[in-house]
Amino acid sequence: MFYVVNNHHELDERKSTNYLVLERKMPYEPISTEQTKLQEIAAQLLDPASDIATLSAAANAFYDLCVALSDWKDRTQKATQLASGKAISPEDAARCIQDFMRTAKFLRGLEAAIRTVQIRFPGTPIQILYAGCGPFAPLALAISTRFSAAEIQFTLLDIHQESLDLAARLFQTLGLENHVKAFVLSDAATYQWPTALPLHLVVSETMQRALDKEPQVAITQNLAPQLCEGGILIPENIRVEAVLCIAAKEFPEAGGEQFRIPLGVLMDLNQDMATSELLTTAAVMQAPTDMAELPHCLLFTTIKVFDGVVLNAYESGLTYPMTLYPLGKIKAGEILEFRMNWAQRRVFGASVWNKKNGIDRISPNSVRHYKPSTNLYPTPRIDKNRCGFRGSSSKYLRKERIKLSIVRVEGYTS
Ligand SMILES: C[S@@+](CC[C@H](N)C(=O)[O-])C[C@H]1O[C@@H](n2cnc3c(N)ncnc32)[C@H](O)[C@@H]1O
Repeated sequence: MFYVVNNHHELDERKSTNYLVLERKMPYEPISTEQTKLQEIAAQLLDPASDIATLSAAANAFYDLCVALSDWKDRTQKATQLASGKAISPEDAARCIQDFMRTAKFLRGLEAAIRTVQIRFPGTPIQILYAGCGPFAPLALAISTRFSAAEIQFTLLDIHQESLDLAARLFQTLGLENHVKAFVLSDAATYQWPTALPLHLVVSETMQRALDKEPQVAITQNLAPQLCEGGILIPENIRVEAVLCIAAKEFPEAGGEQFRIPLGVLMDLNQDMATSELLTTAAVMQAPTDMAELPHCLLFTTIKVFDGVVLNAYESGLTYPMTLYPLGKIKAGEILEFRMNWAQRRVFGASVWNKKNGIDRISPNSVRHYKPSTNLYPTPRIDKNRCGFRGSSSKYLRKERIKLSIVRVEGYTS
């Protein structure tokens, strides 16, 4: 009844035999200590009233539970470089759970999206493609405790066979194997969903801050158009904005003023934009000509997971602002150009234009003069005690995403 398959077509053939048994039953009826533990962890992460200490503890407990149950011996620490970006190693992917605000908000957004899709497609098992599930498939595991196998069916996809094997073991041990339709070894940037089946929901978290290095953009471009009409992409929107900031003023003491000049939005990655040429258009922006200070240019990432569930700046390693240090400090009136840089698998390359490097080549019409960008998801005024990362950001900035996550979790004190 439980197979790990290498492609969907193989699965479809098996389905006609006894592959899939959908039993209508209660969402989850734990029978072992571990199953009860998973249900409790999921409830804490999904509860919007959980405080930061509870979320952090729940995410760590989730990670520990998965490690213990998966009996993972030789952890692969090697990432796979794909044409579309870097697929982080199974070892690093496992640790993403510990980025607790990310895990909690993705879970809440996913649950809300499933309930929305259920209203649109009553009585239908909701088909969910989890692209880049990693070894613990945490979003699918936790969500599966909230719905019956007759209500939701996950297809778990990853580029690493080791991750699929571990995820399969976890689902089986935790009594949730009926929630999984298939395990698919494939590149999500090229994978084709079988046309015979409606694809209701795609969830993927294959990104770093500012959509750097990992293949979220390419995966979205491939999978979003394959959703059925009325289907939902999670995250619903990922916004990257250029903002002039002074790091020392990001967390002002009482009475101090934050220094921020939003230059504009570089990218909104969503279902509509996935197929638009505008997604990859270069942006040219100018700092105010009357700016007295010398700020840096930072890229802010805001993730609207679904509806009102938003991951704001500083809440997660994914939304920690990225300082464009190579640009140096930005002077009044300087023009910045942001462009896709697929060669280095970075979404945004940036440069300051001046007379020497060719300002004359920029048409005056292409320059977006300073005006505050429309902030769809206003970041609450930052309170240092509420953000995941503590202390100076600069020493973490050149490190990989996973290091960021670990530092953030360990650095938290209630
Ligand atoms: C950031 S981890 C997320 C792990 C897990 N989904 C979570 O939310 O904690 C990204 C995962 O996506 C996988 N991945 C990245 N790019 C991929 C691609 N193009 N195709 C399939 N899997 C990919 C990686 O192998 C890794 O397991």
